[in-house]
Parts: sequence; structure tokens; C-alpha cells
Amino acid sequence: MTSVADQSDRAFGFSARNLGRRDSLTFAGGRDFFNQPWQIAPGLPGDQDGLGPTFNGDSCAACHAGHGRGRVPTEAMDPSPGLVLRLSVPGTDPHGGPRPEPVYGVQLQDASTGWAPHEGRFRVTYEPVEGRYGDGTPYTLQRPVYTVGDLQFGPLAPDTMLSPRLAPPVIGLGLLEAIPAAEVIAGADPEDRDGDGISGRANLVWDQTSGRAVLGRFGWKASQPSVAQQTAAALHEDLGVTTPMFPVPNCPVVQVDCARAPLGGTPEAAGPVVERLTFYTRTLAVPLRRPGEVRADARGAELFASAGCGSCHRPVWTTGDDPVSALRGQTIRPYTDLLLHDLGDGLADGRPEYLATGSEWRTPPLWGLGLAQRVTPGTGFLHDGRARTVAEAILWHGGEAEQARERFRTMDASDRDALLAFLASL
Ligand code: HEC
Ligand code: HEC
Repeated sequence: MTSVADQSDRAFGFSARNLGRRDSLTFAGGRDFFNQPWQIAPGLPGDQDGLGPTFNGDSCAACHAGHGRGRVPTEAMDPSPGLVLRLSVPGTDPHGGPRPEPVYGVQLQDASTGWAPHEGRFRVTYEPVEGRYGDGTPYTLQRPVYTVGDLQFGPLAPDTMLSPRLAPPVIGLGLLEAIPAAEVIAGADPEDRDGDGISGRANLVWDQTSGRAVLGRFGWKASQPSVAQQTAAALHEDLGVTTPMFPVPNCPVVQVDCARAPLGGTPEAAGPVVERLTFYTRTLAVPLRRPGEVRADARGAELFASAGCGSCHRPVWTTGDDPVSALRGQTIRPYTDLLLHDLGDGLADGRPEYLATGSEWRTPPLWGLGLAQRVTPGTGFLHDGRARTVAEAILWHGGEAEQARERFRTMDASDRDALLAFLASL
């Protein structure tokens, strides 16, 4: 009931189709907070001000362009907003989360207002990785290599761990949040009791609101428990805007100019602003599938199942209760189990986040996959956007997904095409 039919480059920007009148108004009230750039403080009363002083993007839309994924930096270009670099040193924070790099914090802010220096910048280069399909057809993947430089406060701590993260699409998130936690956890098989080589673990992460560890669902390692907390964290880390949840400006101790910069309010985004933004982000609709000819489509779906993709990319869920009535009791097809899986060394970042190890990632939803590059031309797939195509994304799968990858790699060309056509229709 929530899906929309639009297939254009604006397909990710609509509200759930079944939102009531009142909820539609709340949704409309969140749109500007997502799309309009935040201004440098001090602004005029009523301004959306308080950007930075250090930040990565000046609006949500700067990274989630068209509500889709980020653009991937090319070698020739300064990194575009859309890919961020997370930092941490070994150990954990008091709640079991990553321990911040002492001078730069948990994310490298590569931009700033005039009030303080930016923290540093990074560059990505790509190394070719050659391979062949089972039928002998060659392919070339690209492995990213990151170089951090232009650091304004001295070198990174020697044992700093880096994790590049591409901004993911932000559609259907309220629906994913409305899946009962107990059902997600029931799908986990940490000891692989069923012996299918696929374990699946739930991440348990700190929830600011309840003050305890709960199921993590959002982010590439499922490190955020709710859209509300993810939104407040984005305001804090990505934009440098304080909120009731994170009221202290994002300025590690040595960054004194940062801490002295004028504020755009205390906090800069008041409770109702964050609530509207959260409502907006939770109720962005997923486009309807665009299946092709019936028999070809059925063949693609069958190959998806027989290759074992659905063991992690679980096709169907039913949502439970939710504060937004439009999201309750919906049958949804996100193609994710919301669990962590070890995808092997090729994709590992070596940086743990709560219970997620350095080689585990949350299965990303596949809905909207076929429209990803229409909404964000030139974007890539996987957590760091390294895959230029969906086929490349599959070929990077290893670890628990090695068997599924091998089934894809060794399919004959017509079956590969059928599977890819199915994925493009999602
Ligand atoms: C500088 C780029 C950047 C900006 C600006 C940004 N985001 Fe993000 N966003 C990201 C990245 C990168 C991730 C993945 C984070 C992770 O893996 O932990 C993400 C993840 C998310 C998610 C989780 C999606 C999912 O499927 O798990 C939501 C929701 C989100 N952002 C909302 C917002 C909102 C709302 C704003 C504006 C207040 C915003 N973002 C601003 C880069 C950005
Ligand atoms: C063991 C669990 C598992 C299996 C099996 C699996 N995947 Fe994945 N898939 C993942 C995880 C986890 C990621 C995220 C990895 C990353 O970003 O580094 C992912 C990422 C993807 C992506 C990129 C999504 C995006 O938003 O960028 C695609 C496409 C994909 N998988 C398709 C498939 C297909 C097709 C199959 C079957 C041939 C398959 N996967 C099998 C767990 C799995």
C-alpha cells in the first residue's frame, strides 16, 4: 500500500502513497529540512543555521542526492560529499561502540565554515582485480585504496582504523523499522545450526533514548537502532548541527576554534525540527517493481533463490505496529534480513562497530536497486561504492556468500543476464 509508481530520476522522493492527510502535511514539513542547505551561524532568527564548524555536507541531500545513494569520488577529483571516512582506535567507547580517534573523532570532516579549519581530506585510487566467469569471459573489478592527507591537527594515531562509507538510499526506512525486532533476531543463526554456511548475527547497539543496547538496523554495519537516532547522528557528524540527542558541538578537545565558533541555537536543530526530519525520512516510499516479461522474470527470481541470495537478502516481511498507521501491517519486499554477515577479506574494513567485526556487514536492502543509477548517475554499489555495476557487487561477495557468488560466476551467460534483469527490476 505504501509503494509509488514513479520510475523517473525523482522516484525516491515521494511519500508513502497511503499516508493520511495530516501525515502528508507532516511529511511536507520535513522536506525543506532534508533538502535545504544549513547556513553558517550566526544567522537571522528563524534561519536553519548552525552548520559545522566542521562538516562533510551542508544538507542531507548533499550526500543522499535525490534521496538516493552518494556519488563516488573518482581518482581525479576531490572526494565528493557522499562518501565519508569513519575513524576509530582499538577499544570501545563506554557503550561498546567504536572508540574515537583522539584528535579527529569518529569521522573525518573534510569541510568547514570560516570559523575553524576542516580536519583533513582523503583521496581514493583504484587497483584492478582481474577475474573470469565460469565460461571464460574476463572481467575487471576495482579495489579502492585510501590515502588520508592535509591533516590540520597532526597525524592520525598510529593504530587508527578507517572505514569508508557511501551514503545509502533512504527509501522505505520506516517500514524496515516497523519489522518487529524479535522476528529479526529469530532469523539469526550465529552458530550456523542449520549448516548452510550462512550464520547471520544481530548487531546490538546503544540506544540513546532508552539508555540500553537494542537491535541495530541502520547503516552499513547496522550500528544505529532507529531512524531518529540515525538522523540526529547525521546532523551531528555529517553537518555539525547539534540536537537534543547530541547537544554538545562535534569538536574533539584539541580543536579549540571549533569549540569557540558561534552556535545556531542551543541546540541548533530543535526537537520539532528533528522530529519532522525523522518523519520525512521514515515515510519516503519505495518505488513499485518493474517486472519484465512474465517467464523471464520468473526465471530471474528462481535463479536468485537457487543461487542462495535469498538466505541473506530475505525477500518478504510483514511489518508490525508503528506510530505511523500507514506503515502498519504492510507486506514488504526489501530483500534483506537486517543481519550481519561475514563477506570475507575482499570487502573487510577491519574496523569493528559494536558486535559487527571488521569483515561483517549488514545485508543491504535491494529494493530500488534498478533505479539507483537513474536517481544518482555514476553512483556505485557496496559500502564504499567500489562496484560500478550490480554484477561487480555480486562478484565481490566472499566469506559466507562465497558459494552464492560462485553459483553466479559459473552460471551461463543467459542465466546471468536473467538474474541481473530481475535485480534491475527491483
Ligand atoms: C556527508 C554525507 C552525508 C550527509 C550530509 C548525510 N548523510 Fe545520511 N548517510 C551517510 C552515510 C555515509 C551513511 C551510512 C552510515 C553508516 O554506514 O554508518 C548514511 C546513512 C543514513 C541513513 C541510514 C540508511 C540505511 O539504509 O541504513 C539515514 C536514515 C540517513 N543517512 C539520513 C540522513 C539525514 C536525515 C541526513 C541529514 C540530516 C543525512 N543522512 C545526511 C552520508 C551522509
Ligand atoms: C551471506 C549473505 C549474503 C548472500 C548469500 C548474498 N549477499 Fe548480497 N550482500 C550481502 C552483504 C552483507 C552486502 C553488503 C556488502 C558490502 O557493502 O560490503 C551485500 C551486497 C549486495 C549488493 C549491493 C547492494 C548495494 O546497495 O550496494 C547486491 C546487488 C547484492 N548483494 C546482490 C546479491 C546477489 C544477487 C546474491 C546471490 C548471488 C547475493 N547478494 C548473495 C550479503 C549477502
